[in-house]
This record gives sequence, C-alpha cells and structure tokens, in this order.
Amino acid sequence: MGSHKIAVIPGDGTGPEVVAEGLKVLNAVAGPAGIKYDFTHYDLGGERYKRTGEILPDSVIDELRRFDAIYLGAIGHPDVAPGILEKGILLRARFELDQYINLRPVVLYPGVDCPLKGKGPEQIDFVVIRENTEGMYVGAGGFHKHGTIDEVAVQTSINTRKGVDRCLKYAFELTRRRNRDKKLTLVAKTNVLTFASNLWFRAFEAMAPQYPDIATDYAHVDATCMWFVKNPEWFDVVVTDNLFGDIITDLGAIIQGGMGVAAGGNINPEGVSMFEPIGGSAPKYTGLAVVNPIAAIAAAQMMLETLGETRAAKAVDGAIRKAAAHDMKSMAAGKMGMSTHQVGDLIAKYAADLV
Ligand code: IPM
Ligand code: MN
Repeated sequence: MGSHKIAVIPGDGTGPEVVAEGLKVLNAVAGPAGIKYDFTHYDLGGERYKRTGEILPDSVIDELRRFDAIYLGAIGHPDVAPGILEKGILLRARFELDQYINLRPVVLYPGVDCPLKGKGPEQIDFVVIRENTEGMYVGAGGFHKHGTIDEVAVQTSINTRKGVDRCLKYAFELTRRRNRDKKLTLVAKTNVLTFASNLWFRAFEAMAPQYPDIATDYAHVDATCMWFVKNPEWFDVVVTDNLFGDIITDLGAIIQGGMGVAAGGNINPEGVSMFEPIGGSAPKYTGLAVVNPIAAIAAAQMMLETLGETRAAKAVDGAIRKAAAHDMKSMAAGKMGMSTHQVGDLIAKYAADLV
C-alpha cells in the first residue's frame, strides 16, 4: 500500500479512450486497497507534433525519470510518416530510461475465443521477455549511394555481453518467481546468426548452472512460430532479442485473443518502467468507443504489480477474467456486445469488489 507518482501519456488515436478506462479501474481499486496516485498527464504524440513540431522535448524525458511508473496509451498517427513518432517517443523512452526488459504475457483468459483448435486457457499461459534496448533497434547502419541504382543499405544488430546478461538474469529470476513449469526457453537463430545468436547461446549456457532449479530449452525463432501455434503449452518463459521478440509477440497476441487483450511492460528493474497496451493507435476506430480496453487495463494491472500493489493487481486480474468469461461477446473491436466505456465500468466495479 502506498502512494505512487504516475506519468500518463494517452497518446494518439484510441490511446486516450483506453487509457481513460485503465485509469477508471486504477481509481476503483484505490480506496479498497489503500492506494494513492498522483497522476501527471503529458500531451505527446501525433497531434502535438503536427501542432508544434515537438516530439519528445528533452525536459520531458528528464521529468519522466522522476516518476514511479509511466502509463502509455498508443503512439502512431496516420498523417505522420512511419518511424518519426515511434522512434522519437516510444523507442526513445525505452532507450533513455534504460527499460531493458519488454515483458509480454501471453495469457488466454477464460471465455475468450482462441484461433487455435483444441487450445484453451490451460494451454496458453506463458511470458515472453524481449530484450528492449539493443539488437536491430539500436539504429546502427546507414546508406551508401542513397537513391542511386548502386545503393547499399546496412543495418546492424548490436548485442553486448552485458546487455544480454542482464536480460537473461531477469528471465531466469522471473522463471523462478513465476514458479509454474520452471522452464526457460531461449529463442534465437544460432544456425544462421553465428555471431549474435551465438553470443546469446553462450551467455545462456554460462548462466544456467546458477539456476539449477530451472529447466532450460532452446528453439530457433522460425520453429518457435510453429510451436506457438501447434504446442503453446510447451512454453513457460521465453527470452529473446529485440526484433525476434517484436515479431513473436504479435503471434503471441493473436493466440491470446488479439490486440484488444495484449499488454506489455517496458521494465527498468532499477528505474522507471512504462506500461502499454501493445495494439497501437488504431486510427480507424478513434472516437467510436468500440475498441477493447482490456489490453490497457491489463497494462495497468502489470503496473500495479510492479509498484508492489499485489492485492490490487490480483483484483484487477480477477475482474478482467470475470468480464471476459461472463459478460463480453468477443474481444474484437465493435464485437464486444458493449462499448469501451461499459467494459471499463464493469471491470472497475468487479475489481473494487474483489480487492
Ligand atoms: C511494439 C511496436 C513497436 C516496436 C513499434 C511501434 C516501434 O511494434 O511495441 O512491439 O517495434 O517495438
Ligand atoms: Mn511490435
């Protein structure tokens, strides 16, 4: 129980709509769980960029460092060229705040339609840990003879032993804390990336003996895509690099019922972490109150957990499960059988009762 300073970045498109529902749920559990929040809203995203040309002022990055957590809606605007806002806001925050873990639970809630035949909540319950500050996302590379027929483009994946080690350590520790199958799977591409994946593999093997209670496994990233679909129950905790993690967590999101339910945390275990629904700004649904707020509410739940508010986090998780199992027709936008606000109201009420 405590008091938490939280920066709120509603962002673009449907971001503000789902963040409003997440805040509703956070406020609903505050009284019963004895939590106090001090929210500060930041106007960042495509609209501000179009209006003022500002993306993420340095002063704001410095302010963000002083919060206990950051709650983010979505970044991405149809009128802004791809990459500008993503690199300028989302990736910059991840890098500058050194949020080196991207934690993405893949959980099929009861009652949610799964596209995989014969698979249910028993089979789909794992966590992907994506390295979040290195790899292909560093932006190392460049063009030579840009725009000519002799053009060359180079983009290099940067993997440091320290960066890999800290990510692996977090993964081993989380596998132990989670205490489910106690199995950690490294995902890479050792048969082709004989430098980058080789470093990950050696670091993984070197660390494993420190965790004798954890079973270790390895899978190539392409095969992982197949196993996520065919045998998701094989996975407990998965650890992988930035780009592979980006790709396989979209697959993870669809087997858990789609972008309306998938949440993630950008974690700096020694600093400030940022929580977000991973579905993006969904511009075509903006203002219609049809998008599913569960992903944003689940992100708020992860934030509560990280802030040490275990009781409130459990209540929110229970409330999401209850609404998904008993009240909602579907997890898809426009097909929930209720509006964005109604889903938020319901989960807020359930959560307050469950604390
Ligand atoms: C994600 C997103 C981002 C990423 C984009 C928007 C830059 O796809 O959080 O997975 O690639 O990391
Ligand atoms: Mn992605």
